[in-house]
Amino acid sequence: SAQNAGSALPAVAAAGGGDPEAVLTVLYGSQTGHARSVAEELRDAAQEAGLAVELVSMGKFKEKNLKKLKYVAVVTSTQGEGDPPDDALNLVEYMNSNKAPKLEDFQFAVLGLGDSSYEFYCKTGKDFDARLEELGGKRILDRVDLDVDFDDGAEAWIPQAVEAFKDIIPAGGASAAAPATGSFGATAPAVHYSRKKPLQTRLLTCQKITGRHSEKDIRHIEIDLEDSGLTYQPGDALGIYFKNDEELVNDLLRLLEIDPAETVHVNDEPKPVKNALLENYELTLLHPGFVTEYTELTEAPELMKIVAETESLRDYVETRQIIDVVREYPDALAPEIFIGLLRKLTPRLYSIASSQSEVEEEVHLTVGVVEYEAHGYPHLGGASGYLGHRLNEGEDVLIYVESNDNFRLPEDDNTPIIMIGPGTGVAPFRAFMQERAAKDAPGDSWLFFGNPHFTEDFLYQTEWQEFLEDGALTKIDLAFSRDQEHKVYVQHRITEQARELWNWIQRGAHIYVCGDESRMAHDVHQALLDVVAEKGGYSTEEAEDYLVQLRKDGRYQKDVY
Ligand code: 2AM
Repeated sequence: SAQNAGSALPAVAAAGGGDPEAVLTVLYGSQTGHARSVAEELRDAAQEAGLAVELVSMGKFKEKNLKKLKYVAVVTSTQGEGDPPDDALNLVEYMNSNKAPKLEDFQFAVLGLGDSSYEFYCKTGKDFDARLEELGGKRILDRVDLDVDFDDGAEAWIPQAVEAFKDIIPAGGASAAAPATGSFGATAPAVHYSRKKPLQTRLLTCQKITGRHSEKDIRHIEIDLEDSGLTYQPGDALGIYFKNDEELVNDLLRLLEIDPAETVHVNDEPKPVKNALLENYELTLLHPGFVTEYTELTEAPELMKIVAETESLRDYVETRQIIDVVREYPDALAPEIFIGLLRKLTPRLYSIASSQSEVEEEVHLTVGVVEYEAHGYPHLGGASGYLGHRLNEGEDVLIYVESNDNFRLPEDDNTPIIMIGPGTGVAPFRAFMQERAAKDAPGDSWLFFGNPHFTEDFLYQTEWQEFLEDGALTKIDLAFSRDQEHKVYVQHRITEQARELWNWIQRGAHIYVCGDESRMAHDVHQALLDVVAEKGGYSTEEAEDYLVQLRKDGRYQKDVY
């Protein structure tokens, strides 16, 4: 066993369950095996000196465990024009991404192998050395760069590194106690987050996944769940708390002639009205009740006409936000009065686009940023504007999981699934496919996806291709609505595939629909009805009953909005 001979601990206790943190992790990135062999020599020398050592290939290392390490020797080569070896690619990418952790209590030394005939000599080693320090790590030994004739240099470096680590690693490390490749430190606190008690965590990534010429701005969002213990199932939704746009709040206060610093009471707590509008009240979704009450207060004659008819009121609120009403019919209102007209700001729910079987301690979303010009002014959605424009990567966000037992993969992995999700409605199907791929589920899966243009709006295109290639996805049908003269929608594909669809349904397939409720889900339902009626030989009524039965059996599930 690898215990310090001078330790007061009996060797047997140390080997079995000593301080799990008193371990030297030797992390290597190697293309041809040179770096690995140097790393192995370092391990042997360190063990001989009484240190507990774990040798790990970067390719096998779980990036997220980086921050859980304390004593780390990095041995890595550099390829060609400064590229990392293949097995280091993930870790390098991770360290350079927004996901890179803060390294606390992290002490390191780096040995780089390279070839000085190349411009970017030992670049990967240099990058590791610099980046680990940037992330908060403490360098305990100056980096050494070794050329193609690295043997002598390695022989000189190894004992130096061993000495340096021996000086700082407390005695008592257990040699097998740091399974950095497994579920290292999986000590999730038993906390239950909820709408009332959301988790404060970080936005990792917010990336536009529609093309430059797309009419849509759709974002792929990744949020950190690390060490939160928060879990979710494919089909669940994520609640997002957000703040209103400051510019919007300023405009509103100006139009209403309200001093931003004036005090109002929110849940009996005094606070400046500006803060209240930023944090506590709904400003983007316009509900008819606001218009009615605002009309009563302002007695604007035009508004009176509008609110007199349900139909005209519905039309009026459809494309407007609170600010439009105030802009069109401005009036000086006391802050408490104005706030009395508003609803409390509520978190927004987004269908989760990932499976923890694949992304572990992260949660992904597919968010369409609501942004449009209307009534002479630009408009931005509340939560989507916050996620897409105001919240920066790395900043804190409040979230919780809203579980959805009505949108679940079949219990039996053999059961075929039919997924219909145009636009951002595709989100939960990415989760479904990640889950089924991770489980190697044998059941067939079929995706119907649609969006305006193939070149601009094919969300997660490469991922679907990979799922198709490795067999997780059996079939995909696409409807790019504006790539030809006539609109082509997912329901047209459904109709075209009637026979095959009926076949799948008879084989027990579950049908899932996600996305726009009012138009898409309605039209898709109609198309499914036609399929059942035609291929099943049913009357319209019987077909309707058939679909009702499928819903009751949990075989026809919708997540629509
Ligand atoms: P369009 O915008 O070109 O009309 C995702 O928003 C996709 O759904 C887009 O391609 C959109 O097409 C399409 N879509 C619009 N209305 C639809 C409907 N009633 N049924 C199905 N898809 C629809």
